[in-house]
Amino acid sequence: MKRMTSFSALDIINRVLDEHVQEGDLCVDATAGRGFDTLHLCRLVGGSGHVKAFDIQQEAVDSTKALLEEHGMAERADVLLMSHSEMDTVLEEESVSLMTFNFGWLPKGDHTINTKKETSIAAIEKGLKLLKNGGIMTLIIYYGRETGFEERDAILAYLPTLDNRKYTVIEMPFVNRTNCPPIPIVIIKDHI
Ligand SMILES: C[S@@+](CC[C@H](N)C(=O)[O-])C[C@H]1O[C@@H](n2cnc3c(N)ncnc32)[C@H](O)[C@@H]1O
Repeated sequence: MKRMTSFSALDIINRVLDEHVQEGDLCVDATAGRGFDTLHLCRLVGGSGHVKAFDIQQEAVDSTKALLEEHGMAERADVLLMSHSEMDTVLEEESVSLMTFNFGWLPKGDHTINTKKETSIAAIEKGLKLLKNGGIMTLIIYYGRETGFEERDAILAYLPTLDNRKYTVIEMPFVNRTNCPPIPIVIIKDHI
């Protein structure tokens, strides 16, 4: 693996994805957006793996599908127009190797439609049940200007309540960056 030279929240989380996901895995992109993370996961799971991607905006679903088509990966993913808070209706418990959340709004989209603390926390809670033992959930919390602060505070208050016999939670805030740097978080569902 190449030496890491860039350290944005996304670089850190992508490194976790690259290290953890294996060919044949089932992975979830809980916030499909423009599809970049879905495409990344499709590459990692290979032809024998599968990705489920969720977004509540038709524009995001269409963008993600178009990106996958463009890269010949459309068969590797289901891109669903559905809230991630309902993901347990289409996924089985303890079946997912990695799940990623990139909170906030659709890049180059409508900034008034963004993830909300109630559905985000419900989705994290459900998502943790869907993870296999040894599975990983990654989060990137975006906040700034007038949005995202409530969601950030609610998620950061919720995570320490997770049972430490079942989960390891690692937050990596950038402590000396300015302008509301996004917060990368990794949750490991430990073997018990
Ligand atoms: C920061 S963007 C995701 C970026 C994306 N990962 C990419 O590669 O472009 C956040 C996305 O979450 C979506 N979203 C908001 N609420 C949601 C919900 N309840 N369930 C699923 N997606 C949601 C938004 O529509 C937006 O597209």
